Amino acid sequence: HRVEYLDYEVLDDHGWSLDDDDLFERAADADLSESDHGEFVVEPGESLLEAAENSGLAWPFACRGGACSNCAVAVIDGEVPPPTSHVLSSEMIDRGIRLSCITTPVTADTKIVYNVKHLPEVEELLL
Ligand code: FES
Repeated sequence: HRVEYLDYEVLDDHGWSLDDDDLFERAADADLSESDHGEFVVEPGESLLEAAENSGLAWPFACRGGACSNCAVAVIDGEVPPPTSHVLSSEMIDRGIRLSCITTPVTADTKIVYNVKHLPEVEELLL
């Protein structure tokens, strides 16, 4: 499964939103660094977080067990099943927020924004 990723801080810096339809097109045009935007492959049995780390990326995490939401990502395109045990509200699940430490994409191509712990509603969970 191929994952294209984008750092939430880039959205913040550029004034882009998770709801922008052309978010990843803009990212592709913006000449971003490898850590901000790029893609990797998730191998069978890997969580999204592990796959990112195995690709040399340093994504945020703390508990690695679905309890803290430091590793939260927003799914923009593709399917990443919600975990059964976690700290996210159903509203956040509906918005496509997932925890990268305990879940993994099930579609061949997935677009996700990582580092969404800086989204106000996720930040609340971190307190
Ligand atoms: Fe804590 Fe994923 S690292 S929920």
